[in-house]
Amino acid sequence: LIVARKSSPLVIGVGEDETFIASDATPIVGYTDQVIYLKDNEIGVIRRGEPVQVLSLFNNEPSTINIQKLKLSLAQLEKGGYDTFMLKEIFEQPSTLRDCLRGRIVDNCRRVTLSGVDLNQERFKSAERITLVACGTSWHAALIGKRLIQDFCKMPVEVEYASEFRYGNPVLNEKDIVISISQSGETADTLAAIELAKAKGAFVYGICNVVGASIPRTTDSGTYIHVGPEIGVASTKAFTGQVTVLTLLALSVGQLRGAIDDATLHEVLSALDKIPETIEEALKVDTEVKKLSRIFSYAHNFLYLGRGYNYPTALEGALKLKEISYIHAEGYPAAEMKHGPIALIDHDMPSVIIAPSDSLYDKIISNVQQVKSRGGAVVAIVSKGNKAMNDIADFCIEIPEVPECLTPLVASIPLQLLAYYIAVNKGKDVDQPRNLAKSVTVE
Ligand code: AGP
Repeated sequence: LIVARKSSPLVIGVGEDETFIASDATPIVGYTDQVIYLKDNEIGVIRRGEPVQVLSLFNNEPSTINIQKLKLSLAQLEKGGYDTFMLKEIFEQPSTLRDCLRGRIVDNCRRVTLSGVDLNQERFKSAERITLVACGTSWHAALIGKRLIQDFCKMPVEVEYASEFRYGNPVLNEKDIVISISQSGETADTLAAIELAKAKGAFVYGICNVVGASIPRTTDSGTYIHVGPEIGVASTKAFTGQVTVLTLLALSVGQLRGAIDDATLHEVLSALDKIPETIEEALKVDTEVKKLSRIFSYAHNFLYLGRGYNYPTALEGALKLKEISYIHAEGYPAAEMKHGPIALIDHDMPSVIIAPSDSLYDKIISNVQQVKSRGGAVVAIVSKGNKAMNDIADFCIEIPEVPECLTPLVASIPLQLLAYYIAVNKGKDVDQPRNLAKSVTVE
């Protein structure tokens, strides 16, 4: 048996009279603690009764074999050395997004290939409207998807909670495309929405993580996000995977319908191609956010504000906090604050304001000032190098600069970490928060 490694991990487990091959040590550790981690461009040659050989892919010369002893227990290994699945899943986002993007950006960042779209070009060309249906975090991804599709495909888009859609007498026909988004692929409300859309003649497209789940089996076509099993009940890596696939889909359909110019396509694809490294960079705020979390663990209420692409990011940040820390948090479009929630602001009500240097930056500065002038503490998420915000906000967390449409991907990283550390400070079970289940298979 000959194996080779390129990008994705590959581990060879060396047992007594037996050898194992896997993409990580998790399934091997139950059989042997001796492993060889292949490096990129190495080949492993496994022959019955002979020691494993490792060769270089370039010249077939033997490489030095480094057999390592696994120190972790099976239980720890499953968490990759992290205390919780959620923290592991937050930190593995550079690699999950690499998996999600693999093979989908082609021609030197000038074209997207998504088989679900490529095989249904006529449907996507002639569609008159796209409706996105989902629940929870997936619904927040759908809101970002709406902006992406509007910007890049220039066509009407609607977003519905699956549970509302199914009872809302939706008006649909065969010129409609309904895109369902679900991590688990088993959410009862989303499944029911799909059945309804199909019955009304719409073409139904699924964006899912779990391979072979009910949603991908029921939909007419779709795309997997390929971020691997998500164990933590609070969704993190699935959210960024969904937003990444929605970006690819919007660009792909925009390209097909001639709605996007080549320069914009190239600019966004080049930045998206680098997003795994950009997220790696964004994760460096970990220690800073951990410290900040101690200051805010006392709060009973939080406001999360964002505008444009980051209004849904604010909703998602608030959902993460309430799910795992049980602190009441509201996400709001920042400009809507003056229509009501502003009455809540006082010294005990901190706000997290997502303020990257984008087309709405000047507008959001005045929202920060409105909170400050009413005695509220502000944690601002700003683009790297923005020192001006230090004079207004109480705390600034910097994120790498990316094109506006990709800001939700990077801005969600400090929000995930903040929710995580506040919940840990409060001694909560972050992986299995009370009253919640990973797949909501009941209505
Ligand atoms: C996310 O943190 C939640 N646990 C929840 O809102 C979830 O996103 C929702 O139940 C939808 O699940 P799905 O993506 O598997 O359909």
